Amino acid sequence: MTDERVARLGLLEKAALVSGGTVWQTRAVPRLGVPSIWLADGPHGVRRQTGAADHLGLAGSEPATCFPTAAAVANSWDEELAEEIGSALGREARAQGVNVLLGPGLNIKRSPTGGRNFEYFSEDPEVSGRLAAAYVRGIQGAGVAATPKHFAANSQELRRMASDSVVDERTLREIYLAAFETVVRESHPWAIMSSYNLVGGTYAHENAHLLGDILRDEWGFDGAVISDWGGGNDPVAAMRAGGTLEMPSPGFASARRIVEAVESGELDVADLDARVEEVLRLVDRTTAAAPVTVDLEAHHALARRAAAESAVLLRNEGALLPLAPGTRVALIGDFARTPRYQGAGSSLVNATRVTNLVDAVAGSDLQLVRHAPGFRRDGTPDAALREDAAAAARAADVAIVCLGLPENAESEGIDRRTLELPAAQLETLRAVVRTGTRVVVVLSAGGAVETAWAGEVDALVHGSLGGQAGAEGLLDVLTGAVAPSGRLAETFPVRLADAPTAGLFPAAGPVAEYREGPLVGYRYYETAGADVAFPFGFGLTYTTFAYRDLVVTEAEARFTIENTGAVAAAEVPQVYIARVGDSAAVRPALELRGFRKVRLEPGASAEVVVPLGERAFRFWDVRSGAWEIEAGTYEVRVGAHVRDIRLTATLEIAGTVAAGALPAALAPYAAADIAAVTDAAFEALLGHPAPRPAPSRELTVTDPLLRMETAKSPVARLAFRILDGRRRAADRRGRADINMIFLLNMPFRSIGNMSGGMLTPEFVDGVLTLVNGRFFRGAGQLIAAFVRGRRAERRTKAQFEAQSGGAR
Ligand code: BGC
Repeated sequence: MTDERVARLGLLEKAALVSGGTVWQTRAVPRLGVPSIWLADGPHGVRRQTGAADHLGLAGSEPATCFPTAAAVANSWDEELAEEIGSALGREARAQGVNVLLGPGLNIKRSPTGGRNFEYFSEDPEVSGRLAAAYVRGIQGAGVAATPKHFAANSQELRRMASDSVVDERTLREIYLAAFETVVRESHPWAIMSSYNLVGGTYAHENAHLLGDILRDEWGFDGAVISDWGGGNDPVAAMRAGGTLEMPSPGFASARRIVEAVESGELDVADLDARVEEVLRLVDRTTAAAPVTVDLEAHHALARRAAAESAVLLRNEGALLPLAPGTRVALIGDFARTPRYQGAGSSLVNATRVTNLVDAVAGSDLQLVRHAPGFRRDGTPDAALREDAAAAARAADVAIVCLGLPENAESEGIDRRTLELPAAQLETLRAVVRTGTRVVVVLSAGGAVETAWAGEVDALVHGSLGGQAGAEGLLDVLTGAVAPSGRLAETFPVRLADAPTAGLFPAAGPVAEYREGPLVGYRYYETAGADVAFPFGFGLTYTTFAYRDLVVTEAEARFTIENTGAVAAAEVPQVYIARVGDSAAVRPALELRGFRKVRLEPGASAEVVVPLGERAFRFWDVRSGAWEIEAGTYEVRVGAHVRDIRLTATLEIAGTVAAGALPAALAPYAAADIAAVTDAAFEALLGHPAPRPAPSRELTVTDPLLRMETAKSPVARLAFRILDGRRRAADRRGRADINMIFLLNMPFRSIGNMSGGMLTPEFVDGVLTLVNGRFFRGAGQLIAAFVRGRRAERRTKAQFEAQSGGAR
């Protein structure tokens, strides 16, 4: 049913409604009672900016509860907890007058070095989809739109706005879209954020296959597709494809372009009307709920519980943990006093308060001997700090060594270079180990790290980036107030070189080839039979569980779990499906299809039912271009982690297609030998030739600014050296200049659409003329375009305000 307001809007009003009015607000049409609404990050806490506005976490924002990051909460495998956090986020957003919350982030962790992995849940779409769906339910329950992001195949930060994700349709559907499918089908988000990158040669925000065929037609999405900040490319193409709202405000440049396109017949007004209706629906949906007040104390307590539920016990030799009351502990490491509890970038929350382990331990039943900083956070070696740490350890029964990634290692905009912890931290750890005092390592990192040193310590707790109450949550696990129940939602490889994306990630050029296909994360390690440090789904606790009585049908797996130890705790039984025998498609050795978090008192048992259904057995059949079920035998494997299968049952399934054989061209995939995947094998997976754009010295609007390094114009090369010099200088100081990094990775067109209407696309064309070596012509073009642009902007703004009946 068409919204009757659409017919009452003029063409310019409609065109103006599909882009933002400011960095964080939509445009209003007061004469029709359409208000402007507020959007704000983000995934683990509200970042509402009332002063200077930016999308990189640079300027301040209103205080809000900083919950554990998605990478942490994913380790809880707890949908109820995720929904509670979502609900708290929604309420805080509502209380701050935010209508649309820009999260959760649920991209699949293609590589362990993905720069935003801390903002994402898992390498597996079942975990990502279920937890993200729970967040969305919680957020929207408060009357605030959730905006699952970044749709889709947004895996690397390098060239993040100028990278084409070339991924075969089956992998796209089964790995990179599957979590979004779960969220859309089950939780009906009112908005979704398209990603910066291109997918198969077309920008996500103007990709009709993604936004039209799949998101709206197949999954039934009826919300608004919001561009990532500066991710708008061609506003007319976006209208046609289903990209609803361009953010932040590009001024009126996009509106003018849309008006022209409708007037010239290039754009069907029905496409614009459909997008306008989506904007109006978003406004209606998010302005209906009554105001709320929030209990920040209760939210801090929830953040603490979430951190405890998300901590993963990776090692516990001789049952060192939990620590008994009165244990004399030395706290070692800078992170004990100044925790790392979130990552940098647009998700940065101005926490209401932040706890640290020194204060938490001091206020507990443990006896704090003292805190020794142990190392310098910036990695500079410091023998005195190291020796002081050893001395502190000698005076204690147990040394709790807090290690982690420094701030500049984990930020939006930058992929990680290594999985190693800084050498200075490991030297201190070894000095402490040499004292003979028993050692617990507490790890603060939003992603996987190499843990070759783990065998030398008694216990290891992975706290991830645990939010503002992370330290208290960790204390609860260390003392046994909470039995650990976190399980890794991401494999810890032995070395970075073992990852399926080794040598492929991040792609330095314009095309990112997803050559590993569906062999992502554990799907790769299990198929290849590769060693890992800690497998997917792994996590210890203070009790033991027995599994028995598995009964499976195509609809469900039913089994019993018993807590056979002496402590109340939660277990996370995981249900994997493995195809037995030939298949027409590349099949990972096994795939997660369901899980449950089950809390049991000592001696108690529970029957667990995990629904399977057709999605558990389906695969995307490139031959029919549809989901099919291949006839044949499947194993249903129930385990405590991917390498600890406790129960197995077999099912014969009639399926929708006969079993096939793997095409010979795909043989390297069967052996999970990614290094042996030739161009021909990858193209056989893709089903078409891979794009190989010829490098050109002539730069275009879609090239990132970093390409100025080799531009024809010496002025442009100098500009590159200045920007890159600032980036490097910050790097040398152990900091990440995300603003410079954003600029270097940003395409030229964003100079216009990130300027809030100051600079038009014509101005950007002038910049390019200059960059491409025609200095005087470019400079002339620039100046003329600037003057014309300012005039046009003033004119359109005045027209729009006169028509719509108000400012903005
Ligand atoms: C990020 C988004 C974020 C937006 C607004 C972008 O840089 O990619 O995740 O929501 O900025 O801050």
